[in-house]
Amino acid sequence: MAAPRDTLGRPIRDLRISVTDRCNFRCPYCMPKEAFGPGHAFLAEGRLMTAGELVRLVRAFAGLGVEKVRLTGGEPLLRSDLPALIAAIKQEGIHDVSLTTNGWFLAKQASALRAAGLDRNNVSVDSLDEGVAGRMNGLGFSVARVLEGIDAAAAAGLPVKVNCVVQRGVNEGGVLDLCAYFRERGHVLRFIEFMDVGTTNHWLPAQVVPSRELVERVAAVWPLEPLGPLYRGEVAARYRYADGRGEIGIISSVTEPFCRDCHRARLSADGQLFTCLFAAAGTDLLGLVRSGAGDTEVAGKVAAVWAARSDRYSEERAALPPAPRPRVEMSFIGG
Ligand SMILES: C[S@@+](CC[C@H](N)C(=O)[O-])C[C@H]1O[C@@H](n2cnc3c(N)ncnc32)[C@H](O)[C@@H]1O
Ligand code: SF4
Repeated sequence: MAAPRDTLGRPIRDLRISVTDRCNFRCPYCMPKEAFGPGHAFLAEGRLMTAGELVRLVRAFAGLGVEKVRLTGGEPLLRSDLPALIAAIKQEGIHDVSLTTNGWFLAKQASALRAAGLDRNNVSVDSLDEGVAGRMNGLGFSVARVLEGIDAAAAAGLPVKVNCVVQRGVNEGGVLDLCAYFRERGHVLRFIEFMDVGTTNHWLPAQVVPSRELVERVAAVWPLEPLGPLYRGEVAARYRYADGRGEIGIISSVTEPFCRDCHRARLSADGQLFTCLFAAAGTDLLGLVRSGAGDTEVAGKVAAVWAARSDRYSEERAALPPAPRPRVEMSFIGG
């Protein structure tokens, strides 16, 4: 089947899959305790994609030009079949399989993930300060254990990048400490602007620290030089330390949106296809698979949805704040 292009000419290149909507953390910017407490209805086990169903969907995307798959959530390491899932996705010819995790269970699982064929690993660390980190994961979990997970991943041969969501007045004071720590260990640190995903995180524009400001702060201590993108559509703008000690990245989805180069499809934990992180509704692919549809029919559905795609939410937000509207939560759609 021909690789589709959307109404803005964008091909489909990468796929992000939320393998579970559950998480052991309650980061207030993602799954605030008040909204994701005991009363929250997580997906029942039977509504989650099984590994077999998920691999069938990956096959459809691979046939349409998808080359990279990122497994995320929720917290993907809560799924015990993750290594088997990774191995099966690699078998579909996906050359780049990566994982985004909060790192809590990483030390135990890193070797198995690498052995299964995982290519790369992103670990979220918002602060090295135990008090700040504990507040930012909502439950007081120790960042020391996450750092051990990163060491284990590196020892297992996994390239590690570190994701840090920066919030004004919350963790911005620890940015230089993070740079110093990860520079020392050779891991790329990426600052992510706090985004208005979902409807529960009480996002306000004033809580966003523009990435440019962070670059200036870092460069005042360790001079930085801009690097070109490694490929079209790379979401992080990259900078190298002028002293040769590695690089940082910035993901400026609020202040410098990159919708025009967005080649990303998303699968929610219950197998719905979303064509934008800020979408309100998806297309039920899992239902199609469960109704007995063949690979060609599934791929045809994906191609049709992609061909009709016109999403450019972040650019619209930058031009004129959009009216409030329903949006799915990041843990469900996959961050
Ligand atoms: C939703 S999480 C899922 C994977 C895993 N639980 C983790 O935290 O790495 C994926 C990424 O999204 C980021 N994220 C979550 N909510 C965000 C928000 N409102 N704005 C920007 N990034 C956010 C997290 O910091 C994390 O790096
Ligand atoms: S950012 Fe990741 S670790 Fe934090 S609540 Fe969301 S899914 Fe969980």
